[in-house]
Amino acid sequence: MNVKIAPSILSSDFSRLGEQVREAIEAGADIIHVDVMDGQFVPNMTIGPPILAALKPIARQAGIPLDVHLMIETPERLIPAFAEAGADILTVHVETCPHLHRTLQQIRELGVLPSVTLNPATPLVTLEEILGDVHQVLVMSVSPGFGGQSYIPASTAKISRLRRMLDERGLARVELEVDGGIKPDNAAEIVAAGATVLVAGSAIFNDQASIRENIAALRNIAETARSAA
Ligand code: DX5
Ligand code: ZN
Repeated sequence: MNVKIAPSILSSDFSRLGEQVREAIEAGADIIHVDVMDGQFVPNMTIGPPILAALKPIARQAGIPLDVHLMIETPERLIPAFAEAGADILTVHVETCPHLHRTLQQIRELGVLPSVTLNPATPLVTLEEILGDVHQVLVMSVSPGFGGQSYIPASTAKISRLRRMLDERGLARVELEVDGGIKPDNAAEIVAAGATVLVAGSAIFNDQASIRENIAALRNIAETARSAA
């Protein structure tokens, strides 16, 4: 299975969001990652269901999933709206879900793939009981809230530990996504540790090179690391 590249639109030019998403899809994005922030759980605010709904036809036409990362308190209140607006994958933070099993079930019942994530300081043991109930686990490799932060080096060991937990339980089908500070110079170690989906914002949407060149660079490194593993 190839490593998937998921551009995070947080670093895109919001004044021409549709164009940027089309460009990323044409450049080979496998997934579009959408960061939802509420100014409560994280100290920043971004987009809500109406903007997601505007991206839905673009993604649907291309057959590319919309991966919606909910950095919001009480996500269960807004999950139906995000499902309706076009989310294919919905990721909730374990820190915001006292009834995580119920929340994941709510997502699945709406026909959306459930995914769970945890902050850098939250241990993997918090996920142990629900690993069999998710499509994906997202390892945050920065504290959520902003694009362009530096990758926290200890994340690599956490990714390896999660890879082992999944493999030991016969759950190799669960996607292992990593989000935050991914760049060409650390993508190889992240893939070698067991990641299957790489989210990248500032490494894809920047002034140094085109979206196409940036996606290609990450993909080459990821594929080389994958085949060496
Ligand atoms: C951070 C978001 C990330 C962010 C990644 O809170 O969840 O998806 O956009 O951006 P980079 O790749 O620039 O760290
Ligand atoms: Zn994200």
